[in-house]
Amino acid sequence: MAPAEIHKVAVLGAGTMGNGIAHVFARSGFQVILRDVEQRFLDRAIATITANLDREIKKGKVPESDRALILGRLLPATDLAAIAAADFCVEAVPESAELKTRVLKEADGALRPGIVLATNTSSISITQLAAVTSRPDRFVGMHFMNPVPVMTLVEVIRGLATTDETFQTTMALCERLGKKPVAVNDSPGFVSNRVLMPLINEAIFTVMEGVATPEAVDAVMKGGMNHPMGPLELADFIGLDVCLDILEVLYKGFGDPKYRACPLLRKYVAAGWLGKKSGRGFYNYAASGAGK
Ligand SMILES: NC(=O)c1ccc[n+]([C@@H]2O[C@H](COP(=O)([O-])OP(=O)(O)OC[C@H]3O[C@@H](n4cnc5c(N)ncnc54)[C@H](O)[C@@H]3O)[C@@H](O)[C@H]2O)c1
Repeated sequence: MAPAEIHKVAVLGAGTMGNGIAHVFARSGFQVILRDVEQRFLDRAIATITANLDREIKKGKVPESDRALILGRLLPATDLAAIAAADFCVEAVPESAELKTRVLKEADGALRPGIVLATNTSSISITQLAAVTSRPDRFVGMHFMNPVPVMTLVEVIRGLATTDETFQTTMALCERLGKKPVAVNDSPGFVSNRVLMPLINEAIFTVMEGVATPEAVDAVMKGGMNHPMGPLELADFIGLDVCLDILEVLYKGFGDPKYRACPLLRKYVAAGWLGKKSGRGFYNYAASGAGK
């Protein structure tokens, strides 16, 4: 399907990424079938999108007159059959190969044959996920960044069988969303996580070895390298469990010890110190509510 013929998209999973992806599609004029397994997850997503949209209106990024129009484009659904009306589909369910395999197989059966199926996976092989569907040629990685309404990058990842047409359609769609798509080939961690996670891991090693405190490591990277967030602050924001999972994917995928997860990261995850979402990571969020 040509990019201009895409009017209605399906987003599978209405969590952190799914609600952000639905938000940017709706803001850009697309109708969005937002699918999750329970109504309460859809209600939560609509509430989040509404709050984020109101913030954008307050900042003058979106005209107030568009509010009802944008929210009216969101079509929440628990029934998978609803996605048959979609002209493009993005999957954003949790990062488990088993779950994604099941969800992608179901979606493949429910979508019309010519439709492109994209996955927002952070680390699982696009080629492997494509292979469980009947449309590996119309399958692509569409790796949005969190928070989706704010971050401009989308890594567009070609699986082994992704056709040029599928790839170009996806790149063009990203442009229509006002994003900056970057072409990447399928490889563990793609580019973003392959470069970012070893940086975060090394920062954790410096803390474990007593080279510097988390505050000092982050201060070096912010003040010296002009990074807007320090690597440990960023790790807490991403989730330390997520960082560990991605490092495992890199370690297994390349069979190279340079991706070995730092023991201190393992220890924090084992303790339930998962970063911002659990109230404790390299920083203590529960204490002040401010993050330090
Ligand atoms: N959070 C991030 O910073 C980030 C960044 C880039 C990519 N990703 C990737 O995006 C994907 C989603 O991550 P997230 O952080 O939004 O997860 P999340 O846990 O916040 O949301 C996942 C949603 O999927 C729903 N879900 C579960 N099974 C489903 C099914 N069968 N059908 C439809 N919905 C179902 C859950 O109810 C939940 O609402 C993952 O692959 C993750 O690796 C996450």
